[in-house]
Amino acid sequence: RDMALLEGKKTRCWTFESELIKGNPESLQQLPDNYLGPIIKVRKDQKIRIRFTNNLPQKSIVHWHGMHVPEKYDGHPKDVISNGETYVYEYTVMNRAGTYWFHPHPHGDTGEQVYNGLAGLLLVSDEEESRLNLPVGEFDLPVVIQDRSFNHDNQLVYLDGGRMDKMMGFLGDRICINGRTDQQLNLKSGCSYRLRILNGSNSRFYKLAWSNGDPVTVIGIDGSILESPKKMPYVMLSVAKRIDIWLDLKNKKIGDELALVSHAFESGMGGMMDGGMMGGGMMGGSNTRLPLGSEYRLFTINLDEEGSNDYSLSETLVPFKKLDPANAVNQNNPREFNFFMDRMQWTINGRTWEGTEVVEEETVKLNTTEIWQLSNKGGKMMGGGGMMGGGGMMGQGNQGGNKDGGMGNMMQMPHPIHIHQVQFNILERDTSEMDASVWNSIKEGIINEGWQDTVLLMPGMKVRVIMEFKDFKGLFVYHCHNLEHEDMGMMRNFLIK
Ligand code: C2O
Ligand code: CU
Ligand code: CU
Repeated sequence: RDMALLEGKKTRCWTFESELIKGNPESLQQLPDNYLGPIIKVRKDQKIRIRFTNNLPQKSIVHWHGMHVPEKYDGHPKDVISNGETYVYEYTVMNRAGTYWFHPHPHGDTGEQVYNGLAGLLLVSDEEESRLNLPVGEFDLPVVIQDRSFNHDNQLVYLDGGRMDKMMGFLGDRICINGRTDQQLNLKSGCSYRLRILNGSNSRFYKLAWSNGDPVTVIGIDGSILESPKKMPYVMLSVAKRIDIWLDLKNKKIGDELALVSHAFESGMGGMMDGGMMGGGMMGGSNTRLPLGSEYRLFTINLDEEGSNDYSLSETLVPFKKLDPANAVNQNNPREFNFFMDRMQWTINGRTWEGTEVVEEETVKLNTTEIWQLSNKGGKMMGGGGMMGGGGMMGQGNQGGNKDGGMGNMMQMPHPIHIHQVQFNILERDTSEMDASVWNSIKEGIINEGWQDTVLLMPGMKVRVIMEFKDFKGLFVYHCHNLEHEDMGMMRNFLIK
């Protein structure tokens, strides 16, 4: 579809064109003039059927991010369909109320397909949520944040920086909000809103804050509404994550100014990135205007109309009963998953994507609770493969390090780690091996509560998550949600048997 995103020539996007065949018309909402897919609204316990027909020039399959569904309907890369084919999803919604989303999941092309416009929100409601008197209708507002780059012809540009761009992850130089470039939301003074913020970017993440210094009031994260509202100076919003925030405009007047910004932070891309390689121009011309971790505005709220509503935020929201580590089959011996670079490849425990292959350490039992330890271990540029030899990747500006220790940390990047099929709880976050200034620049924006499906692993960070494998056996994936890392192979299967 050709969309009017900028002055002048229209931009060719890939979109989910949707049509409701049967059901409540309210369950499918298309916001005007934007490239995103429809907002699908479902209720817990509802049975849904979705027909996906692929009209792309590439293979694809749709994944329901955060949803607890059988293998067949999870959108595993092995289930891709070709142009002209149809895949039918049919499942009962088992998730808690929360903000979920959907996007393509073919191996190798996910980054490009999402970038070209293929993504949409899936909102689940349930009884517990309905009791809360949270804003609905126009006051329940989606905010999808993505970054894009456009060429002089107004067309989307993806990965023009070549291999290095791919290694780092795509960073655009312009923020799109809800599939539009205007970075404006028109809201009513005197009203309260629920903002459902999704970071639908390929690799960029944000340090969200209000421009006037007000705290950010978080009421939900990923697949859950929190136990009580959490007021934070800022919130780190990793790739693929969602947070629901409460916005009170009751005391605001027409014309008052307010913006959501991303504050500066240290991304922790250390080692070679600060030194010779990254600093010295390996990154080419990409993303020089909007570096990761710089300060910029996401959108402005225009208060051009007065209104009133009487939604209220209570101090207790949805009770949260954290999974008990005592019930985990591996309480004292968590499964370890290390994310690092080996021989110029992003890997998980040194392995890369291999179709439907799954190894013993990735095999879990149905009806068990497990603890997984996810660690960001930086990377080994030298590996054993001699990638550096003659290729010129090292340039000259690189001081290297010693073979044993130093090299191991030369390629460090944040990795937003996502596990399909489950919502997990965060048990602990070990930051002792992190660079202190990186941690200090983000730590007040971290949320460990609630049911989550993606966790941002900053370099050196270790996170223990606990989850239950229930209802469905099958092959699912876990991966880095930096879509370029995922496409490069930082994705693996796990088997529930
Ligand atoms: Cu949102 Cu496997 O992805
Ligand atoms: Cu997912
Ligand atoms: Cu990654």
